[in-house]
Amino acid sequence: MKVSLTNLTKSAPKADLFVIGYFKGEKDLTALRKIDPVFAKAAEAAIAKKIFSGKAGEVFSSFQTGYRQASETALLGLGGKKDLKVASLRKAVGSVVALASGKKAAKVRVFLDSFLTDTVSAEQAAGIFTEISFLASYRFDKYKTQKKNEPAKTPASIELVTEQKEAVKEMRSVMVRSGKISAAVLLARDLNNEPGNIMNPPRLAQEAKKIAAEKKLSCQVFGLAELKKMGMNGILAVNQGSPTPPVLIALEYGIEHKDKGTVCLIGKGVTFDTGGISIKPSKSMEEMKYDKSGAIAVIATMALAAELKLPLHIVGLAPCVENNVANDPQRPGDIIKMFNGKTVEVMNTDAEGRLILADALSYAAKYEPQAILDAATLTGMCHHTFGDKTSGILGNDQKLIDGIVKAGEKTGERCWQLPLWEEYGECIKSHHSDLKNVGDGYAGTITATMFLKEFVPAKTPWVHLDIAGVANITQNRFDCPKGATGYGVRLFAEILSNWGPESFSKAE
Ligand code: BES
Ligand code: ZN
Ligand code: ZN
Repeated sequence: MKVSLTNLTKSAPKADLFVIGYFKGEKDLTALRKIDPVFAKAAEAAIAKKIFSGKAGEVFSSFQTGYRQASETALLGLGGKKDLKVASLRKAVGSVVALASGKKAAKVRVFLDSFLTDTVSAEQAAGIFTEISFLASYRFDKYKTQKKNEPAKTPASIELVTEQKEAVKEMRSVMVRSGKISAAVLLARDLNNEPGNIMNPPRLAQEAKKIAAEKKLSCQVFGLAELKKMGMNGILAVNQGSPTPPVLIALEYGIEHKDKGTVCLIGKGVTFDTGGISIKPSKSMEEMKYDKSGAIAVIATMALAAELKLPLHIVGLAPCVENNVANDPQRPGDIIKMFNGKTVEVMNTDAEGRLILADALSYAAKYEPQAILDAATLTGMCHHTFGDKTSGILGNDQKLIDGIVKAGEKTGERCWQLPLWEEYGECIKSHHSDLKNVGDGYAGTITATMFLKEFVPAKTPWVHLDIAGVANITQNRFDCPKGATGYGVRLFAEILSNWGPESFSKAE
């Protein structure tokens, strides 16, 4: 798919569909009349007869058009002008893509200026149109051998038409940036939608290496022997039940910017989570192929950091395992000595994410990062709490948390804070070892994070994102079909693009 910017030239090649935005209650159709008097007349009649009111998502379309550069013209309802915010514009773009797909329109032209308000600038709209056009057009159909019952094809090109001449230069640069961000989100979706029999830890390492070579990132992959030598026993114990070896992927970008600071990203990479001996119920277990979402968000963000040429040193760590029940799986009650020397009693083999993240968190100390951000599909409890709309955010640095919550509002990848009060740490103390990997059954998202906190390098600002609910969706959404969402990439990109000494405070 291609998204481009143009003006209202009369010589443009013919499109299949021309989409114009319409705010509910708008009386003045002068702009529309100028572009297409024939269609404007029909639209006026439809509005007068209350066939079309302009509420969000509503469509009035006609083949009777005076605009010669498209075979069909459509008016897309945007709701009240005062209500159009960035979030509703995103949905409107989703409607444009859905409308075009439904009409099998390959070449789409959109009158961008009709979507602008006092609160949404031309630059913002150009960025959102680019981003959501790519995201909403995404399909994962490589394993379909029968192309007969395919869902409607998404458009091949979307041309944004604007007369905002003074803004064009800035609009183009925003579009380039949005294009790069979307490409990284789609990369994340592609890797994540791969099933467990394909995307196992060594394969994910192979993909990371390929991406690193393309984007000129440095990439180290620690395999079984190295992990044993290093004493990464959290990672090793979880993978014990799998015939496939585990890996720890370490990507590095921008070493030359080290003087400006290092940020470390860590992602949970469980390529499939059966639960281990504490096996999960079979209902919805197939969704556990998405238990690698955190690792993939980190890998895709590293690729994006290189594309955006961020002036920052970023390290991406992805501990990758398969939590399986064959081979020599760990038993409930096993005691393991983690990379940082603490001992853990494994009460439940399904609480595996925290074991692999723990080793990666303490390993991150070697980079002396200004901050550590981790993303993990860590707890079913977080999914229950926030559904698929919000991730949980917890950490030891309020400034860092506040910045990320704000970035979530801006990007649409929302997160909401849960507390990390010391009292919650009591229930992960073990009788036989330093810690146990589950709490008392309550506040599961918080106790899981309290466990992680035990492994965070001293005096390091750190934030944990529990993305269990948001990493994949089970219903089509306006900007994403069922499956992996690529959550985290846009959020990380926003935080890292604005990184500075103001982003964090000194952690306790
Ligand atoms: N990968 C799961 C968490 C999860 C559940 C993600 C549902 C997405 C949707 C994690 O490894 C897990 O199984 N956690 C357990 C922890 C419990 C045993 C303390 C859970 O949440 O039930
Ligand atoms: Zn689990
Ligand atoms: Zn898991």
